[in-house]
Amino acid sequence: MRRMRTREFMVAVALGVLFLHLCNYFSDQKTIWLHNNEGKVEENQIWQPNKNSTYIFSWSACQQNTFAANTTDFNYLPEHIQNFLYYRHCRHFPMLLNVPDKCGGANKSADVFLLLVIKSSPRNYERREVLRKTWAKERLHNGKKIHRVFISGTTDISSETVRQNKLLELEHHEYNDILQWDFVDTFLNLTLKQILFLEWMERNCPNARFLLNGDDDVFANTDNMVEYLQSLKDNDGGKHLFAGHLIQNVGPIRLYGNKYFIPVQVYVPESYPPYCGGGGFLLSGYTAMVIYNVSQYITIFPIDDVYMGMCLAKAGLSPVSHMGVKTAGINIPSSKVDDYDPCYYKDMLLVHRFIPGTTYLLWQKIHDPDLKCENTLVS
Ligand SMILES: *[C@@H]1O[C@H](CO)[C@@H](O)[C@H](O)[C@H]1NC(C)=O
Ligand SMILES: *[C@@H]1O[C@H](CO)[C@@H](O)[C@H](O)[C@H]1NC(C)=O
Ligand SMILES: *[C@@H]1O[C@H](CO)[C@@H](O)[C@H](O)[C@H]1NC(C)=O
Ligand SMILES: *[C@@H]1O[C@H](CO)[C@@H](O)[C@H](O)[C@H]1NC(C)=O
Ligand SMILES: *[C@@H]1O[C@H](CO)[C@@H](O)[C@H](O)[C@H]1NC(C)=O
Repeated sequence: MRRMRTREFMVAVALGVLFLHLCNYFSDQKTIWLHNNEGKVEENQIWQPNKNSTYIFSWSACQQNTFAANTTDFNYLPEHIQNFLYYRHCRHFPMLLNVPDKCGGANKSADVFLLLVIKSSPRNYERREVLRKTWAKERLHNGKKIHRVFISGTTDISSETVRQNKLLELEHHEYNDILQWDFVDTFLNLTLKQILFLEWMERNCPNARFLLNGDDDVFANTDNMVEYLQSLKDNDGGKHLFAGHLIQNVGPIRLYGNKYFIPVQVYVPESYPPYCGGGGFLLSGYTAMVIYNVSQYITIFPIDDVYMGMCLAKAGLSPVSHMGVKTAGINIPSSKVDDYDPCYYKDMLLVHRFIPGTTYLLWQKIHDPDLKCENTLVS
């Protein structure tokens, strides 16, 4: 197994090097670093199997692609889009914090039924704290293992980088649940974060059955998710599943200044393939690995949920709608009832978006054995 993986890895490295020579203007020289038992870092050109080493990939700083400035009307684009175009080709960043044994190793990862993969920026400490004791708690539900990782970059406020990296390090030490890479955690880098996570998964958790991929400000009824996934009789994670709030027949917003503004210089077509809202979607381990595979052939597109849709389309797979996922929020039928009435959330899978206190309160309430609900009417 390990031998084969090593060989595949070497072939991949060889192909990678060839590819990098072809695009020599923005090459991304690869070096492999090993952490030895004393915690020292050693540089190695070839990965050497060592039973007790955790290996991380380290890449020299990815160079700005100066040719991007030759894009038509580049100077008229907003600065964050220019920045995106300058660094769009960069796909590899060193890991700052890793939890390689999160799934008990690649072989045992099939025991993980639901892996919660939560996008979280360094500054969102309060959100992470509350998720750890509510819906993202690591536990067994119905005999199925639920595990959790937060995925993060580094803060975009450079004066706070040192402090916030230290915070994540402390959290990581206490909870063992942070994957952090050395890239700037901005909205337009979320696709990069997804790709880096999938790369990690392929190495450390390839056989996890299902994943919930979502934001740190949603309310996810993970108990219901496990029950829903268990009810899929013909799918134990080895077949396609990609379900959430389905969005179709939409295209890029061309309004300069809009959060989702995508100029033709980034994406020419007027429509997006179907995708699921990025607040939270469920997918099988199989589909995650298919997406990872095809992502290697698809140019990074800055809106992460749309990018997932592009990968699915390329793989010939479709996302589906699950009525329990409300990433656009829910409509409470009457203005007389409490917006946070637990009965409206008891049957949901996921609702966007919540402040930490509300998440805590609601999680307690829906688990109250005395909670009595009439027919829940959620539109
Ligand atoms: C590997 O190293 C870690 C930390 O140095 C140690 O705790 C662990 O027992 C070692 N495992 C094996 C199998 O030697
Ligand atoms: C941009 O294009 C011009 C004209 O084609 C060329 O002279 C220049 O070298 C290019 N600059 C870069 C950075 O590609
Ligand atoms: C994983 O499982 C395979 C097949 O059972 C075995 O050959 C291999 O040694 C295992 N690898 C590890 C790291 O335990
Ligand atoms: C993405 O991260 C890289 C590495 O930190 C950075 O150079 C780039 O500017 C970021 N891109 C955006 C659009 O923020
Ligand atoms: C992804 O690609 C690898 C290497 O080509 C292949 O072994 C694996 O089966 C693929 N995985 C899926 C789920 O398609």
